[in-house]
Formats: sequence, structure tokens, C-alpha cells
Amino acid sequence: MTAEKIREIVSQMTLEEKASMCSGADFWHTKAVERLGIPASMVSDGPHGLRKQDQEGDHLGVNESIKAVCFPAGCGTAASFNRELLEQMGETLGEECQAEGVSVILGPAVNIKRSPLCGRNFEYYSEDPFVASEAAGALIHGIQSKNVGTSIKHFLANNQETRRMSSDSKIGERALREIYLAAFEGAVKKEKPWTVMCSYNKINGTYAAENHKYLTEVLRDEWGFEGYVMSDWGAVNSRVKDLQAGLDLEMPSSGGSNDKLIVGAVQSGELPEKVLDAAVARILNIVFRYEENRDKTAVFDRDQDHEMARKVAQETIVLLKNEGVLPLSETDEIAFIGKYAKTPRYQGGGSSHINSHKITSALDVVQGMTNVAYAQGFDDKEDKTDEKLLAEAVEAARKAKAAVIFAGLPDAFESEGFDRSHMRMPDCQNELIAKVAEVQPNTVVVLHNGSPVEMPWVHQVKGIVEAYLGGQAVGGAVCDILFGKVNPSAKLPETFPLRLEDNPSYLFYIGERDQVEYREGVFVGYRYYDKKKMEVLFPFGHGLSYTTFAYSNLRTDKDFMKDTDTMEVSVDIKNTGDVAGKEVVQLYVADRESTVIRPVKELKGFEKVELAPGETKTVVFRLDKRAFAYYSVKIQDWYVETGAFDLMVGSSSRDIRLTKEVNVESTGKIPFVYTTDTTMGDVLKDPRAREIVKELLKMDIFGGQKDQVESSAASEAISAEMNEAMAGFMPLRGALSFGGDGKIDMADIQDLVDQLNALEES
Ligand code: BGC
Repeated sequence: MTAEKIREIVSQMTLEEKASMCSGADFWHTKAVERLGIPASMVSDGPHGLRKQDQEGDHLGVNESIKAVCFPAGCGTAASFNRELLEQMGETLGEECQAEGVSVILGPAVNIKRSPLCGRNFEYYSEDPFVASEAAGALIHGIQSKNVGTSIKHFLANNQETRRMSSDSKIGERALREIYLAAFEGAVKKEKPWTVMCSYNKINGTYAAENHKYLTEVLRDEWGFEGYVMSDWGAVNSRVKDLQAGLDLEMPSSGGSNDKLIVGAVQSGELPEKVLDAAVARILNIVFRYEENRDKTAVFDRDQDHEMARKVAQETIVLLKNEGVLPLSETDEIAFIGKYAKTPRYQGGGSSHINSHKITSALDVVQGMTNVAYAQGFDDKEDKTDEKLLAEAVEAARKAKAAVIFAGLPDAFESEGFDRSHMRMPDCQNELIAKVAEVQPNTVVVLHNGSPVEMPWVHQVKGIVEAYLGGQAVGGAVCDILFGKVNPSAKLPETFPLRLEDNPSYLFYIGERDQVEYREGVFVGYRYYDKKKMEVLFPFGHGLSYTTFAYSNLRTDKDFMKDTDTMEVSVDIKNTGDVAGKEVVQLYVADRESTVIRPVKELKGFEKVELAPGETKTVVFRLDKRAFAYYSVKIQDWYVETGAFDLMVGSSSRDIRLTKEVNVESTGKIPFVYTTDTTMGDVLKDPRAREIVKELLKMDIFGGQKDQVESSAASEAISAEMNEAMAGFMPLRGALSFGGDGKIDMADIQDLVDQLNALEES
């Protein structure tokens, strides 16, 4: 519908109708205004399947929803590093929504994995904003290609479940820009999600729902977002303020009381009616966009989509360790051990919980194979070793040629609504793994979890397969990997630290009551572990294959560019093994030298490439200013410091195969403001400034006394270089106290400062 037509409809609405349009009719619908032909529009969770509630609504997945298909959760889909696959998954979800009359699916969820403890990490993508944003963008693209909207969430800085409705995320602007906003930015700019969902929490003292800076200045004015912003369920706290900040739709609703506040505020003149009109227009625009593009032919073919879920899961399973034990032979005696072989943990609890129409377990897949035995090994109702189950499992393992233990985190360990209190797996499972490994040298552990776990048995087993929360078809996909029908190709979108205490947010997570300080700044995930040169359990970007890849010929179309230009980076990848496989080629950028404190390197590109044995392909990346820039709080903009950068290409963040130096020149400038406190060292960085302060330079303390120092007894303790270095830290005003001998006064120094500032502005 044209903007003009929408305006016309808005102009025909009464004040009450407009206010009431800004909140839900019920848990899942916007309001209809029949006399104007405005239909109700349904939204549903999200993000990895359809949680459409026909009956009673709730936001925590407590009540039944329709039978649907559960795809791998965000933790897994991000690990695929496969944009096309995520697009296809999106298309499938979009088709399902069309068939079910759902206008907007509530996702993807891109919140950064700041700590392994966040209960909702399983829904989120990564510790890295580029990965999160690219994964989200691909999913959005796919869903919206079917004329169904998305709601990228939870905007902003919602990185824990504890006190999520009242906590205040205290974050510096640079970390917000480089990490937390960046996870949304690329996807919003490129893929234009129809809606954005704001989070419950505060950001630096202001609720996300009433945050004009982020909902309007950043999201709309800077990024060009044109859809509507809806609240997370119950995130509205001050309706009129929220509307003014840019929050259009309150979900679900306040039973009409907030609508009345809007009406009153317009009547009293507190709220300009045009603010309300704009919000209503944005909501109607999306309502009609869906309505006018309804696909009446769409079908929700659950069995077909189950196969799609298996296909996605095949690429979301990360092979963490393999000492020659995988793939397994289909004819060997194998013991499948662990409850999750029979009833896999494949999704997390809360609003994303799908009522799966069917579930395929690993045991279902091997049903006809008489060489595969099963022993339950543990129960996950409580963390207690069942000696009988343990003994049976050890016995089954002893008799077999290989044992596969299906372990992981029980539902009670991670969910929306609360955080984990530690990073351990249940003790009973750790014990089981250790005991099985004692009797069976060919032990493989398959993990079902949404967030990193500590692995005390890491050196005792030969294989580790991270299946994440792989969706309802996970059992099939795991068997495809175990038996080598599919070559694993996923990579970790997050670091697995050795222990929780290593995580950069450890000291401050989950805050003091409602105050949550993000003191680690930009050093989230590998940005921190790399800077600290820390050993980790498995690094960001890690994931093995049944084949090997050789990297060669890293090249660029230019070795130097201005930051207004772009640079093409190419590298050749060859499959040097015997089986076909896919490699995730990762491109990191490192600033060689910087005046600001920056991570050692940051991911700025990735491509997944499929190669037959012996085949070589060239992978091409394009880098622009943002790949080299940091966010300067001073100029409130992205800034590249002129100089050398390393382009690092590799198979993981800790497996860099090739490096190439390039140079980038800044076209921007961060103005330097001189004061009497400016140090001599900083002044002398500009050769033109040296001219201005040359009189000062002749003074003793700034080098004039160099000879004297050298000839005096002090020269034994203070070298000329030391003197110069110390003088470099001397503020300009220091000339009064040291060496001025009354020849200059403060007015002279101020005069110099003015001259220097005039020079800087010229
Ligand atoms: C969650 C959202 C979800 C909404 C509706 C909230 O509690 O945070 O992610 O979309 O409920 O179920």
C-alpha cells in the first residue's frame, strides 16, 4: 500500500482508534478496525520454528502451540557459517508462516554471547557481532522473501536473563557500537527487517523501550530502519515516553490503560499527534504489506520441513576433536550410550519452544542395525549417578569396538528466564564419560547443549561432536556425521574457555542487583582470549573436517587504499584429502599499531566453500572502511587510523594460515585540541607544531640540557634517551616550573596553545 493511502487511512481514524492500534488485541494479534478495512495481524515466535498458539497465549512456551517443525537453534545455525543454508531455512519458515497466517515471526535473536552463563545463549548466534549480524541477515532475507516479516531482537544489550526486566546494562559507547549494536546493524541496514523488538532492560540508565537514542537516532536516523518497533512482551513501562522514543507497538497490551494514557497525552498537548500518527502509519504499513502479499497457495508440509531441519542440522554440528576415531564404520560393534541417544535434547525452554510434530533420535536412525547396542547410562531428572545404569553402560562400552556417549545439558540447566550458575555438565554425566573411556579407547562424546561446557574428560576421549541444540531432526544429522555420510563443516561461533573463570565478563556477570557493568568493554570472546594470549579449550572458528584444506596465494587487488575505497582479498583453497568437504574460510583484520586499545584481530569476512577431493577454488572477500575502523567516541563515528594492517586468513581464530600486510589511509580526522596540559611528546608528533614550540625546546627540560645531563654525574642514572622520554610526558605548562627562569609566563604558554589550535584547524 502506498504511503499516501496509509496516510489517508490514518487521517480517518479517531484518536482512540489510533492509540489502540499501538497495542496488541491479545497475546499475538494487532487490532482490527473493521470500518476502515484494517485487519488484525498475527505475530508468533520464533526464531527457529513456528510457535503459533491457537488457544491461550503466553510468552514462555507454557501453553500448547500448533504442531510445527523445530529447526536447530541459533547456537547451531550460526555454527553453519552458511548464509545460503540460513536463507533456505528462512524461506521454509516464511512459507510456514504464510500457510498459517502469521505476518511476522519473532526473531532472529542476535544478542551477543557475553558470558557462557546466559540462559538464552542457545537462541543467540555468537560472541562476534559480524557472525551474529550475517547469520541474522541471511535468515531475515529468506523469511522476508516469502512476504512475511521478521522481528530482530532483543534490541539492545540484553545479555543475561537474571533480572532481565529491570537490569541496567552499563556499557561504554565504543563497546556498544563495536559489539552490541553491530550485531544488529548489518542485518538492519542490508536486509531491512519489517520490525524490531526492543528488549526489557535499561541501557545506561534508560529502558530500551524509552530510549530515543537507540530506537530513533541510531535505528531510524542512522541505519534507515523503516518498519515498526514492538516491545518485548511486557517491556513497556512508560507508554507516552516510549512512543516518543520510537516504540510503536506495545505487546501484548495493558488491557487498554496505556492506550488511554496516549489519548490523554495528545489531548493535553504533551504528545504531538503527529508522533502517534507516524507510529500508526508504520504499523499499518507492515499489516498491509503482509495482507496484500498473502500467499493462499502456501502449505506447511511438516514432513518435508523435517527433512530441511535435518539438512540444516548437518551443517550445524561441529566436530571438535577427532583422533582417528570418526567416521565410524557401519559394520563395527558400537555402543550408543546416554539418554540423549534416545530422547535428544534438541531445543531450549521458553518462548522459542516448539511443539515438534516428530523427533528423530540417533537411536531411531540405527534401529535396524543389530551391531549397535544401547545403554541409557544416566538420567537427567536429577544430577545423581544411577549405579545400575552406569554399570550397564560401561559393560556395553567394553564389549563394543567404539562407544558414542550422547551427553549434554538437561533442560533445567539452561533456559530462557534464568541464567546458569556454572559452566559444568552434570557430574553424573562427567563420571559416566570418564568411566566409559577407561574401558573403551574409542570413545566419542556427542554434546547436546546451547552454550559452552567444561570438559574435564577432554583428553580421555578420542572424539567430541558438538551437536548444539540441533532441532527435531538432530538424531539423523548426528548419525550422518558419525558414519561419514556427511562431512562435518561447522565451526564454533564462540570460544569454549577452559573454565568459566577465564571468561572476560566473569568478575562482573551478572552484576550487582540491577546494575550490570560491562567492564570488559570491546574485549568479548576471542577479542579477549587473544589479547591475553590465553589457552582455551576450543577457539572461536574451530571445527574439524574428514578432509584437509590447503590455503595459498593470499592476494589483494591493491596494497594501499584510502578509507573511502574498498579492497578485494582473494585466497585459494584446495581440498587436499580424499573426501568432498566444505571449509569455512575466515578473514581477520589486525591493526598493526594503534593509539587506541584494540583487539589483536577481528573477524571481517567468512565464506563457506564446497570442494571435491583435489579441487581448488578461489574465495573472494571485499573489505571497506568498517573492516579497518574502530568507533571513535570523540568524533562519534567510525575512524581508521592511517597505517599498516594485517589481513589474516585461516581455518579458525587460532589457525591462521596466511597473512598479508596492507596499508590504509584515513580521509577523516580526529581534531586534536591542545591545552596547557598537552604533553610535549604529543605536540612534537606534528612537525609543524615543533616550529611553534621551538623556543620551549631550547629550554633545559625539553632537551636543551641534554649536553649538561650527559656531562653531569646524573648521566650515569639518566641517559639522554631517558631524559627525552621523560620530557615527552611533560605538559606544556611544565615550562613554567622547569627551566623557564621567569622568561615566559602562563600567558605565553596560552598563546602557544592558541597558535597550536589555530594550526590544527587550518
Ligand atoms: C521473549 C521474546 C518473545 C516474547 C513472546 C518474551 O518473553 O523475550 O523473545 O518473542 O516473549 O513470546
